Amino acid sequence: MTAAADRGWQVTTFNRDLASWSHPQAQRIIGDRLRPTDLAALAGGRWDAVVDTWSGAPRAVRDSARVLAGRTDRYLYVSSRSVYVFPPPPGLNETCPTVPASPDADATEYPQDKRGGEIAVQAQFGDRAVLARAGLILGLHEDVGRLPWWLLRIHRGGQVLAPGPPELPLQYIDARDLAAWLLDAATSTVTGPVNVLSRPGHTTMRQLLQAVVAVTGADAELVWVDPNTITAAGIQPWTELPLWIPPGHHSAGLHSTNVDRAYATGLRCRPVEQTVADTWAWLATTNAQVMPASPSQPPHGLDPAKEQAVLAAWLHSTQRDQ
Ligand SMILES: NC(=O)c1ccc[n+]([C@@H]2O[C@H](COP(=O)([O-])OP(=O)(O)OC[C@H]3O[C@@H](n4cnc5c(N)ncnc54)[C@H](OP(=O)(O)O)[C@@H]3O)[C@@H](O)[C@H]2O)c1
Repeated sequence: MTAAADRGWQVTTFNRDLASWSHPQAQRIIGDRLRPTDLAALAGGRWDAVVDTWSGAPRAVRDSARVLAGRTDRYLYVSSRSVYVFPPPPGLNETCPTVPASPDADATEYPQDKRGGEIAVQAQFGDRAVLARAGLILGLHEDVGRLPWWLLRIHRGGQVLAPGPPELPLQYIDARDLAAWLLDAATSTVTGPVNVLSRPGHTTMRQLLQAVVAVTGADAELVWVDPNTITAAGIQPWTELPLWIPPGHHSAGLHSTNVDRAYATGLRCRPVEQTVADTWAWLATTNAQVMPASPSQPPHGLDPAKEQAVLAAWLHSTQRDQ
């Protein structure tokens, strides 16, 4: 919304108005998209493009797309790499198989919900549909608690379990870069599925954590721990240690996704230092001790006692080996 307003575009938002957030320049339509009668409020309008961030029942996307089909040139659906059959292979690209799903379904599992939404949009918009398969969205307003967890953990200081190897390539997308790509796509001829995230190795685990240390000004020491030691301790990659997937893990494709289509259609990704600094500044405005979290997401992060136990064992074993 903000990015579109910054371009001088006229924007209409449609939601239930529960979050007490609105943009002063938006024309607001209030309604619940799960109630088809509420969608009638859209029937009098005309738009160049729609951006849909829905992640529930596919039938909600189906009903919106039907109402908007004759009123909108292009429909951009914020989808996810979760639509691909699990596990994601290294080099995951847009031709990889997707999960079976129905556009008429109620909410079931996340991959089926997202894929059902994609099918619903393509049924109405054909080659005027854009399926932005985002992955690991970071930046301001992140409500999953991945980068916020690392910021708050390192801000606490002391010896920090840093999951190795330090040069582990990472791949993600800053929400503002995703927004810019979506707005460009709204006025271009790009069509169909596009994996929208940074190139593999846009940053590394070391670059990311060092950026966090620098921006928080913390008295923290990163202790790099061998990945096998971490997994042997029963620590879950991705959730307990957000963003981290060890080499050779069945989900390693999440950090080696092919993004050639996104870059060929204009994607630009800002440096990790900027994403980290701006997210820290935003957290400071939200009372930094409170982890922003969505009720639909399991909590992310590592229990401090578990972290200290692994660190103590690791430091003991490395000192013994010297
Ligand atoms: N986080 C990641 O790493 C990641 C990765 C890949 C893809 N994605 C995708 O990125 C998207 C995230 O979007 P987001 O966080 O902006 O979405 P969100 O916070 O879940 O919701 C965005 C909007 O939907 C409105 N809304 C919710 N229920 C509604 C209803 N029944 N009727 C009308 N409006 C409704 C909300 O306003 P009200 O509550 O006021 O109605 C809000 O304005 C999702 O589609 C997700 O699948 C995320």
